[in-house]
Amino acid sequence: MSQPRYFIKTYGCQMNERDSEIMAGQLDQMGYQPSLTDREADLIVINTCAVRGSAEEHAFGYIGQLRQLKDEKPNLTLAVAGCMAQEPGTIAWLTKHAPQVDLVFGTHNLHQLPELLEQAEASDEMVIDVWQSAGEVVEHLPSHRKDGVRAFVNIIYGCDKFCTYCIVPFTRGKERSREIDPIVAEVSALAQEGYQDITVLGQNVNSYGHDLTPAKDLADLLVELEKIDGVRWLRYTTSHPRDFSQKLIDVIGASQKITHHVHLPVQAGSNPILKRMNRKYTKESYLDLIARVKDRIPDASLTTDIIVGFPGETEQDFLETLDLVRQVRYDAAFTFIYSPREKTPAARWEGRDPVPNPVKKDRLNRLMELQYQISWEANQALIGKEELVLVEGISKKNDRVWACRTHSNKVVLIDREPAEDLIDRFVPVRITGAKTFYLSGQQVGKPVSPPAPRRRIELPIV
Ligand code: SAH
Ligand code: SF4
Ligand code: F3S
Repeated sequence: MSQPRYFIKTYGCQMNERDSEIMAGQLDQMGYQPSLTDREADLIVINTCAVRGSAEEHAFGYIGQLRQLKDEKPNLTLAVAGCMAQEPGTIAWLTKHAPQVDLVFGTHNLHQLPELLEQAEASDEMVIDVWQSAGEVVEHLPSHRKDGVRAFVNIIYGCDKFCTYCIVPFTRGKERSREIDPIVAEVSALAQEGYQDITVLGQNVNSYGHDLTPAKDLADLLVELEKIDGVRWLRYTTSHPRDFSQKLIDVIGASQKITHHVHLPVQAGSNPILKRMNRKYTKESYLDLIARVKDRIPDASLTTDIIVGFPGETEQDFLETLDLVRQVRYDAAFTFIYSPREKTPAARWEGRDPVPNPVKKDRLNRLMELQYQISWEANQALIGKEELVLVEGISKKNDRVWACRTHSNKVVLIDREPAEDLIDRFVPVRITGAKTFYLSGQQVGKPVSPPAPRRRIELPIV
């Protein structure tokens, strides 16, 4: 019999992407093989995100669509995993509207995937196994990495910050750090495989290590990871402004490897809103942090996340956000419309979601217009500069150009010499053009890194 095939559909953040790689690794070990489309798969795992209503709607829509496929292929196994599975509302919806689903499991027990699949195959009912809280950190899980050029490594799971709008502490549980040694071992192994661009991951990476004995911090960890031969760029995501220490700023500023891309989600520029969000900083203390970052890391590329339409946000509050954006001059910002989330404090406040939709949309548009202008200007300022870029692959839109990335995470498109395979190489380029979301450039020298060992690049995690 031919090997069964799996397809994993991933929504949400890099934590979910990484979880999908671990699920893929477990499935490989079970003798499954990846499928490039869902139609050819014998098992489809939907790894969901609950951070905003829109993310949930996409997943519900996809699960709905799969009903027909399941009718055509009764032996198909459908599994729902990820952050939505941690919500009782999802389980209720699935049992009522999606009887085609065979298995539901959450973020805390994905290491049990092999047993859970066996149970689901033996049962006529939907198997639901969602843990309410996390167990110990599980090490040594197999993994099938998606990306050919960059690798992601978990360092801390969960979040204890409880921002009043956010569901993540409920779907991912309390903060749990991995010990430094297994992280160093994982990154060393990746470097030996040829990965030169490593991102350490957590919902809040600068809380790393406070729960270890003896306590450690992110700066300590990054200093250890920097020593690993073969690692050229070291990134971290996501970082909270609250624990972004001076020690960390100094370590990043002095480092040749830790990239000078600093993502500091601000969420809002108004102090009353920040207080009600439970962010534990003010506009002034955030601007002071940014000033200290710019002082020690003068070429820092700054990015942020912003929510508009949080309950109680007035026009005046919103103008404070625009003012902050003008002062910081971010290279880019991820902007979101507030979405009330089950279980979170803000969703229980009177009025629940009081800012009317048209007002939210208008604020989002005004914010994006301002940010796009600033991003465009920041990119224009790079024209003529030389940058080292990592070639990630052939551009999806134009096969005559390479898509590359700078240390600051900006995309640079360069002309492709079909004879030379540059994938995975670091190449010096001169920036020759700039748009709001990407740059164009010209190669100005030989690759500075040797060809990396070939790895699998085509993977079925979508
Ligand atoms: N841990 C990260 C954020 C993870 S969620 C941090 O604190 O920075 C990514 C982004 O989604 C958040 O920064 C926030 O801007 C946005 N977000 C989270 N909950 C949201 C909600 N209920 N409505 C709209 N946006 C939300
Ligand atoms: Fe959510 Fe706040 Fe935790 Fe980020 S820090 S994951 S926004 S609760
Ligand atoms: Fe979404 Fe869960 Fe990440 S809610 S943003 S997938 S931690």
